[in-house]
Amino acid sequence: MADLTTDFLGIKSPNPFWLASAPPTDKEYNVRRAFEAGWGGVVWKTLGSEGPPVVNVNGPRYGVIHGADRRVLGLNNIELITDRDLQTNLDEITRVKKDYPDRALIVSIMVPCEEEAWKAILPKVEATGADGIELNFGCPHGMSERGMGAAVGQVPEYIEMVTRWCKQYYSKPVIVKLTPNITDVRKPAEAARRGGADAVSLINTINSIVSVDLDTMSPHPSIDGKGTHGGYCGPAVKPIALSMVSEIARAPATAGMPISGIGGVTTWRDAAEYITLGCGNVQVCTAAMTYGFKVVQEMIAGLSRWMDEKGHTSIDDFMGAAVPNTTDWQYLNLNYVAKAKIDQDACISCGRCYAACEDTSHQAIAMSPDRTFSVIDAECVACNLCVEVCPVENCISMVPLAAGTTDPRTGKVVQKTPADWTTHPNNPGAVAAE
Ligand SMILES: Cc1cc2nc3c(=O)[nH]c(=O)nc-3n(C[C@H](O)[C@H](O)[C@H](O)COP(=O)(O)O)c2cc1C
Repeated sequence: MADLTTDFLGIKSPNPFWLASAPPTDKEYNVRRAFEAGWGGVVWKTLGSEGPPVVNVNGPRYGVIHGADRRVLGLNNIELITDRDLQTNLDEITRVKKDYPDRALIVSIMVPCEEEAWKAILPKVEATGADGIELNFGCPHGMSERGMGAAVGQVPEYIEMVTRWCKQYYSKPVIVKLTPNITDVRKPAEAARRGGADAVSLINTINSIVSVDLDTMSPHPSIDGKGTHGGYCGPAVKPIALSMVSEIARAPATAGMPISGIGGVTTWRDAAEYITLGCGNVQVCTAAMTYGFKVVQEMIAGLSRWMDEKGHTSIDDFMGAAVPNTTDWQYLNLNYVAKAKIDQDACISCGRCYAACEDTSHQAIAMSPDRTFSVIDAECVACNLCVEVCPVENCISMVPLAAGTTDPRTGKVVQKTPADWTTHPNNPGAVAAE
């Protein structure tokens, strides 16, 4: 049986599935139930400074992009950090950590960008016995206007400065949670490392307006006729998060820095993908909010079964395995050639592949009078559009030409990438060694 336990910054958890800082981790009742359901760890809903807690809207705070089957593809929220008072949260954290010593419990914090504010809260958090802290530098709405959240995460100098304070006034691991609302995510990650962060976690939510009500002319969710941008998460953001994770995993300045992957993790497969791109664990919010805490049991069972099938005995076995295969465009082998192939038995003759290819691509699919569709190899550039628009899974596939054969489109001989290549024949100047 595969061993799913993880050791992230010395913090042990029975599996790599942690709940992200959000409503599922807002209070003792939730977190106890989450642990009973099997979650390996939680990041407690973000705490703020002592004093009157923030006040949330009393109207709808969520908006959703649904798929055709009304599955939640993307979730938008305009919620703030915890609206419960600090001491209540600290007391609950203390109790829960005491009762679940084998689970990871991280406390998310967001206080003003002033040394005194951090100096005041960190000893109180340390006294709870929690395993570490996560600095919320990512919240894109409500808090950023007050100079916190994404307003800090978008300025590398602030990240470095606050991280340094945390390392000074707190003795356990410090995770810096990054905002995706930035041009180059490597810069804040580098700043976190310079400030002494033990790890980064990403992504927080993406600025978004999910829809506009065309009767009231107000963005949704609308509070008494007015809307505002919120933070987007759920399955729709996973590709953006994976790309950002891979950039940090590959960058020389941050290579090897532990990463907690967040964004759209819904199944064990999503988690495995994050881990192959260098994450030591994953955090989940939308999937738990959509399907409930027990969704983790399918994640655990699926990951465990896949690891057994692949012969992976531990998470470390495949952690980062996809990083060396993630490269810049200029290093792709331009002498690799594939052609689309249509499985005539599976084809339902809908003609979507033909319409897409004929009208918008390379006129590489022929349609016979009886609506049989076939690929014209001499025109096909293997763009994959036909595969993606075909409603029948696996009906169209991309089949690589064997090395040594001639591409009927270009007349060039297909080559494998030479093991020792330093410049690409089709890309003079592209140097393989990074
Ligand atoms: C309603 C809601 C509230 C959230 N509140 C917080 C928060 O207080 N602190 C924080 O760091 N992230 C917060 N997040 C962001 C999540 O922790 C997570 O980064 C994001 O939802 C992406 O993960 P997902 O795609 O699994 O939902 C919140 C997300 C949602 C949906």
